Amino acid sequence: MQNIDWGGLPFGYFKTDYNVRCYYRDGKWGEIEVSSSEFINIHMAATCLHYGQEAFEGMKAFRGKDEKIRLFRWQDNAARMRQSAQGIMMAEVPDEIFYKMVTKAVRLNEKYVPPFGHGAALYIRPLLIGTGVQVGVSPAKEYLFMVFVGPVGPYFKEGFNPVNIQIVRDYDRAAPQGTGAIKVGGNYAGGLKPTERAKAEGYPAVLFLEAKENKYIDEAGPANFFAIKGNKYITPKSDSILPSITNKSLMQLARDMGMEVERRAVAVEELAEFEEVGACGTAAIISPIKKIVDRETGQVYEFCKDGKAGPVSEKLYRKLQAIQYGEEPDTYGWVTFLD
Ligand code: PLP
Ligand code: COI
Repeated sequence: MQNIDWGGLPFGYFKTDYNVRCYYRDGKWGEIEVSSSEFINIHMAATCLHYGQEAFEGMKAFRGKDEKIRLFRWQDNAARMRQSAQGIMMAEVPDEIFYKMVTKAVRLNEKYVPPFGHGAALYIRPLLIGTGVQVGVSPAKEYLFMVFVGPVGPYFKEGFNPVNIQIVRDYDRAAPQGTGAIKVGGNYAGGLKPTERAKAEGYPAVLFLEAKENKYIDEAGPANFFAIKGNKYITPKSDSILPSITNKSLMQLARDMGMEVERRAVAVEELAEFEEVGACGTAAIISPIKKIVDRETGQVYEFCKDGKAGPVSEKLYRKLQAIQYGEEPDTYGWVTFLD
């Protein structure tokens, strides 16, 4: 195995030794298989290639101070993947198979779980695709569920340093009654153009608004959006954003720190009143935001004037990571140890 620079890992693909696969045929899931190939062999008329029958998850395994490997809230990822499958008419993966495959993939690649102390983790990518053949538009009868893993650093190269983001108004990520609340590939395809444009203009991420009225904040690229105002943790409620497990965890932590949590429509103009804003997700962890620029109107909203994350974001970040890395006891039942 090559020497890995654990502290300098980007968020990206990293070849590990094994992945785990399971096929759904004749109305049932088969045996779990282990593969060392990075490739899959599928029919050219598979529905994932033509009609977007594809859903994925993103979760992490952390190596604690005690060397033990911890999975964070896997049950929520399994449940969300079932929701995604329902949403685009794919076979649902039972939680038992999901858990067995995730833990098998982590165990088989245990040497790639970053050691404690580098801020890195093993990213786990469960993927469900329609492999059955259809040329008319209808759901496949066959599916492949697979899990691959790889060590990663934070999604934004800034890590916990504040990032700049751009509000887009000329593209929507998801339709009001569309697939925005499930984790399907099409949502990401729709976001590529504005995201790449934003990157070229110097912003690592975009802030999408809900598509119906373009008045309220939806989410921040591959992460949810939150704001701090006084003693309040405020985060958008919308049918077109992904229900983030990180955000759900932060809401709980904020409540337990004595904050009030507001999950509601958040108008763009409110940005001017917020003291701290950030993006949160498995990959992004918490990314504090220092500047939000509305590409169309030119309006600029600034935060972190001293260049550092705000105190509440920092406190939430530390608490979340302390639970994930086992530095503080998990009183919530969020962590599953890999024995
Ligand atoms: N929003 C989108 C569009 C995402 O892709 C993700 C990542 O999974 C999130 C939010 C954050 O969700 P979670 O905290 O469950 O990773
Ligand atoms: C995650 O946060 O886990 C994600 O899946 C984000 C992303 C890379 C699409």
